[in-house]
Amino acid sequence: MEQRKVVPAGTEWIETHIREFSGSPVARIADDWMLITCGNTTEEKGNWNTMTASWGGLGVLWGKNVAFMFIRPTRFTYALANDNALFTLSFFDASYRRALEVCGAKSGRDTDKAEASGLTPIAFSDGGIAFQEAEEVIACRKLYVHDFDPRQFLDSSIETLYPLKDYHRMFIGEALSLRRKR
Ligand SMILES: Cc1cc2nc3c(=O)[nH]c(=O)nc-3n(C[C@H](O)[C@H](O)[C@H](O)COP(=O)(O)O)c2cc1C
Repeated sequence: MEQRKVVPAGTEWIETHIREFSGSPVARIADDWMLITCGNTTEEKGNWNTMTASWGGLGVLWGKNVAFMFIRPTRFTYALANDNALFTLSFFDASYRRALEVCGAKSGRDTDKAEASGLTPIAFSDGGIAFQEAEEVIACRKLYVHDFDPRQFLDSSIETLYPLKDYHRMFIGEALSLRRKR
């Protein structure tokens, strides 16, 4: 499904350091959720997608500030995450809960998610795509991917989360910037 055209981000967005991220990353990801967005704006047709995630993290690896996320191969976002060098993680206030529910229930395969969620897709100068309504946006450059190997699960209850055996791919990205509005 063709996604709505992305508009350039306005000058109200300021760029700061990932250390300025508000609150506990665990609480914000697990409780408030985030939107993973990837794609590109260079083509005439919008070639991007977004999906809700409540698993992931922020941390430090290889001497870099990193963000990590986990995407099942069954998601439409999976191919876009593989095909593009950047991804963003967008965080919202509670009033956008319904929009995040939509982006976590519908697929970009057959839904214009911007239209369905009411969110406005924007592109930053570095090519990252996110949403005007977001409170904070982390821009990441992919560093590493890893497919979970069920033989390495040390707790047998983990396997019950994969009845389709669609084990997540982990994407680790360097957290290049944190953006928020003035
Ligand atoms: C609260 C919530 C958290 C989710 N977390 C993840 C996640 O971390 N990884 C994942 O692969 N899917 C996750 N999902 C499921 C995807 O968001 C959902 O399947 C979505 O429709 C995929 O969209 P797509 O097919 O356009 O990529 C989550 C869904 C919800 C509602």
